[in-house]
Amino acid sequence: MTDPHFRRLTLITGASSGIGTELARICAAKGHDLALVARSSDALHALSDEIAAAGAPRPLVIVLDLAGRDAGEELETALAQARASVSILINNAGFGLAGPARALNAREQVEMIDLNVRSLSDLTLRFLPQIIAARGRIMNVASVAAFLPGPGMATYYATKSFVVSFSESLWQELRATGVTVTALCPGLTTTGFQARAGLDTALLKNMPTQSARDVAMSGYEAMMAGRRRIVTGAFNKLTVALMPFMPRALLLPLLGYLQAKRRDG
Ligand SMILES: NC(=O)c1ccc[n+]([C@@H]2O[C@H](COP(=O)([O-])OP(=O)(O)OC[C@H]3O[C@@H](n4cnc5c(N)ncnc54)[C@H](OP(=O)(O)O)[C@@H]3O)[C@@H](O)[C@H]2O)c1
Repeated sequence: MTDPHFRRLTLITGASSGIGTELARICAAKGHDLALVARSSDALHALSDEIAAAGAPRPLVIVLDLAGRDAGEELETALAQARASVSILINNAGFGLAGPARALNAREQVEMIDLNVRSLSDLTLRFLPQIIAARGRIMNVASVAAFLPGPGMATYYATKSFVVSFSESLWQELRATGVTVTALCPGLTTTGFQARAGLDTALLKNMPTQSARDVAMSGYEAMMAGRRRIVTGAFNKLTVALMPFMPRALLLPLLGYLQAKRRDG
């Protein structure tokens, strides 16, 4: 007999701020029952309260450092204890670091790979049987950075190239299952990302910027439509379309210049 209290959830990582918070608000408004994951307990509980106050089911809050080796296991246990499974997985948690790779802290760069690549892959593969059973959806938050060379943010750009490659291949592999995998590729978006990355003084910050709400809405619509990839915003679409025609020898120094930190801010 099926358990009437069993929850089939849309799980959003990095829901405590920025694009993840907006994705949670949109999903809740569209009727998804949610699990919210990040490290900031207060922000997650405040968002859960806000969503419940608006009349949607109260999201399950799971406070977790996803860069930890056992995070996938812990998440799976927390969901099982809550009698919940994952129908839709949104891998949004991620961060970047600006600066030459040789000058940045090596441990922090590996932690970025742990979060942006290892955790995203772990959760995708771990919950795939549940998602296939539900004929659900996966959305992985990548970046326009996936299509560009990234001197000045080398490790971050490489992590996002992985996300697009992994997501597009899975989209193809899973076609027969009814599950779709969408790579969401925003460009500059107004969130806490730039401050954490240390991008505040780079020329890049002057490029066209989107709101987290607009990016999240584009991503949500693309995910529900089963699209393989969505590059958000006209400027970013143009950038990605022009990439194949731009010589790497020109792009590498240009991106290095735009992403370098300036002393005068
Ligand atoms: N903003 C941009 O310009 C931009 C552009 C392209 C792509 N993106 C991508 O968009 C995604 C969301 O970033 P955002 O712009 O919304 O930045 P943000 O406001 O800094 O949000 C990042 C989220 O990731 C969570 N997170 C970070 N480290 C974590 C960890 N170890 N364990 C669990 N959760 C963790 C943060 O929560 P806690 O700190 O509470 O853990 C937060 O909820 C990222 O994948 C980013 O690479 C952003």
